[in-house]
Amino acid sequence: MSNENVANLLKEERRFAPNAEIADGANVTAHTYAQANADELRFWKNQASRLTWSREPIQTLDWSSPPFAKWFADGELNVAYNCVDRHVEAGLGDRVAIHFEGEPGDSRAITYAELQRDVAQAAHALTALGVHAGDRVAIYLPMIPEAAVAMLACARIGAPHSVVFGGFSADALAARIADAGAQVVITADGGYRRGKQLALKPTVDQALTLDGVGHVRHVLVVRRTGQDVAMKDGRDEWWHEALAGQPEDHTPVAFGAEHPLFILYTSGTTGKPKGILHTSGGYLTQAAYTHHAVFDLKPETDVYWCTADVGWITGHSYIVYGPLANGATQVMYEGTPDAPHRGRFWEIIAKYGVSLLYTAPTAIRTFMKWGEHIPADYDLTSLRVLGSVGEPINPEAWIWYWEHIGGGRCPIVDTWWQTETGAMMISPLPGVTVTKPGAAQTPLPGISATVVDDGGNEAPDGVGGYLVLERPWPAMLRTIWGDDQRYIDTYWKRFGNRYFAGDGAKKDEDGDIWLMGRVDDVMLVSGHNISTAEVESALVSHPQVAEAAVVGVADATTGQAIVAFVIMRGGVPEDGPLAGELRAHVARTLGPIAKPQRVLCVPELPKTRSGKIMRRLLRDVAENRELGDVTTLTDPAVMHLIKDGLPTANNKS
Ligand code: PRX
Repeated sequence: MSNENVANLLKEERRFAPNAEIADGANVTAHTYAQANADELRFWKNQASRLTWSREPIQTLDWSSPPFAKWFADGELNVAYNCVDRHVEAGLGDRVAIHFEGEPGDSRAITYAELQRDVAQAAHALTALGVHAGDRVAIYLPMIPEAAVAMLACARIGAPHSVVFGGFSADALAARIADAGAQVVITADGGYRRGKQLALKPTVDQALTLDGVGHVRHVLVVRRTGQDVAMKDGRDEWWHEALAGQPEDHTPVAFGAEHPLFILYTSGTTGKPKGILHTSGGYLTQAAYTHHAVFDLKPETDVYWCTADVGWITGHSYIVYGPLANGATQVMYEGTPDAPHRGRFWEIIAKYGVSLLYTAPTAIRTFMKWGEHIPADYDLTSLRVLGSVGEPINPEAWIWYWEHIGGGRCPIVDTWWQTETGAMMISPLPGVTVTKPGAAQTPLPGISATVVDDGGNEAPDGVGGYLVLERPWPAMLRTIWGDDQRYIDTYWKRFGNRYFAGDGAKKDEDGDIWLMGRVDDVMLVSGHNISTAEVESALVSHPQVAEAAVVGVADATTGQAIVAFVIMRGGVPEDGPLAGELRAHVARTLGPIAKPQRVLCVPELPKTRSGKIMRRLLRDVAENRELGDVTTLTDPAVMHLIKDGLPTANNKS
C-alpha cells in the first residue's frame, strides 16, 4: 500500500458493533479471550477435542527444540475420517457437504454420504497405483469437487498432497512437482473459466517433459470439459475409470498428529518457492476452531461459501479442512464472478441461501467498480457474516461490502493469516468485536501477536513496526519442505524466538492491529503472494533481457500491480511490442497472475554499494512520487537517467 493509503487507513474512525441477534447466539463470546489467556495450552487442548482421535493426545505443545514445534504429538487421528465419515456416522449422511456450481451453469449437490464413498474409492485407487503413506501426490485441478475428494483421499492414506493452483504454467508446476518429489499427479482435461474451456492436461504433459520430474509414475485425469486429451499409455488413466469398481468403503488408518498432511508452495524473497509443510492434528484443530469461531458457523442452518481457489491456503483451510471438519454445508463455484454476467456471485448467494461469505478485497473492489446496482438486483438477505482475506481491506471497500452486500447488518471479519500460519490468526469475532473498517484488530483466542520495532522491542501504540507472533500455534508450518535452515532463517532469525511474518503493522490506541502490507520483497497481487525475485528471474530468462527489477505498486483493484524495470541486451529498443512480448513471456513462465502490468525499459537500475537493488526508489518512480533518499546509491544520477528515459510513468504497455 502507498503511504497515503496507510495514513488514510489510520484516520478511519467509524465503528460497528455486532448486531444483537448475532451477539446473543454467538458461538464464541468475549469471555473466551480471558479463558484462553489464562492458559493458552489448555485452551488449545480443549479445542483439539472438536476432533475425533483414534488415540487422544496427552501432550499439547512440545517446544523443546524451537523453532520446530510438535502439537498433540502422541495423539493419532485420520484427517479424512474427521472431515467426512464421522458426520455420516453421526447420522448426517444426507446433509449436503458441497453444492457445486459449475461456471457453465451445471450443478451438483454432494452429500456427506456421497463424499464418503468418493473419498473411499479415490483412496483405494491411489493405493492401487502404489501410493503409500508418506508418498507425495501433486494435484493440479480446476475448482471442482474432485479437488476436495483428491485432497481427502490423500489425507486418508497419509500421502501428503501438494496442490498447485490451476493457473500456474508448466514450468511452475514442474518446479513444484520436482521439489516435492511427487509420484502421482491428479489433473483434469480442463476447466471452465470466463466462458472458455481452459486446458490443464497439456500443461501437465509439458511439465512432465521438463527436468527433475522423473519420479512421476502416474497421472490421473478427471473428465470435466470433455475436450480431447492425449493419454500416455502406462502413465495416464482417467480418474473415473480408476475409481470405478473400487470398494465403496475404506477403513481409515490413524496417523500421528505430526504426520505431514500437505505441502503448499508460496513465494519467497528468493526465486525458489517455499514448500510450506503442514501436519495433521494441530492444523485441523485450528482450522476447525477458527472456522467455527470466526464465521459463527451453525452447521445445521448455515450455508457457507468461500470464493477462493483450492490451490491457495484459503481453499485448503476454509473450503476443505475447516468447514468439512465442522460438518458444514458449502457452495463451491468453479468460475469467475463475471461469467456469464456480473451478477453471478449474487445469483449464487440467492440460489443457495448463502449465509456466510468469505472473499477477498480485490474482488470487492472489482464489484465496487461494476456498481452497486448489480447486487441490488438480488436477494442477499440470507447473509449473516462476511469475511475478507488476502490483503488489507481499504475502508472504502469495507464500507461498500458492509452496505451493499451485508445490508448494514452483517459483521465483517477481516481475517489476517498466511500460508505459513495455516489458519486465521488475527480477526474480529462476529458476536464480540466492535469492528473498525480496515483493521484485522485482535489476535484470536489462543494466539499471541504483537508489533515490534527494528530492534525487536514492542512498538508503542500508533508507531508502525513489524508484526510478530510470540508463541507457537497449532496450525503453524512445521518447516520448509527439505530446507530446515531456510525455515529458521526466513521466519525465526530476525526477532529471536518469535515468528516474523514479513508484514508491516501498527497498533492503535485501543491496542488493535492494523496490517500495512509486506515489508519484504513479496508482492500481493489480487491477494496472491508473488515474489519480486520470481518475476525477475522469469524476465531475465528472456534472451533479450540483461537485468530486471520488479516492484509492486498500489493499484485500485488488485491491491498491488507488478511493474517491471528491465535493461535490454543491446540497449533500449525503439518501440513497445517488446514490452508486450515480455509480459507474455512472464505469463508463460510463471502463469498469468504474475504478468507485469507495465514493463519499462531503462538504461540502469538503482543499486546500493553492496549491489542490492533499491526497489523503494523504483516504486517512487512507478507511483509518480518524489524520489526518496538516494544517497546510498552507488550512482545517485541513475535515478534521473531512469526518470528522464521513461515515456510517462503511467503508460501501460
Ligand atoms: O501480507 C499479508 C496478506 O497476505 C499475506 C499472506 O499471503 P498468503 O500466504 O498467500 O495467504 C493469503 C491468505 C491467508 C500476509 O502476509 N494478508 C492476508 N490476509 C490479510 C493480509 N493483509 C492484511 N489483512 C488481511 N486480512
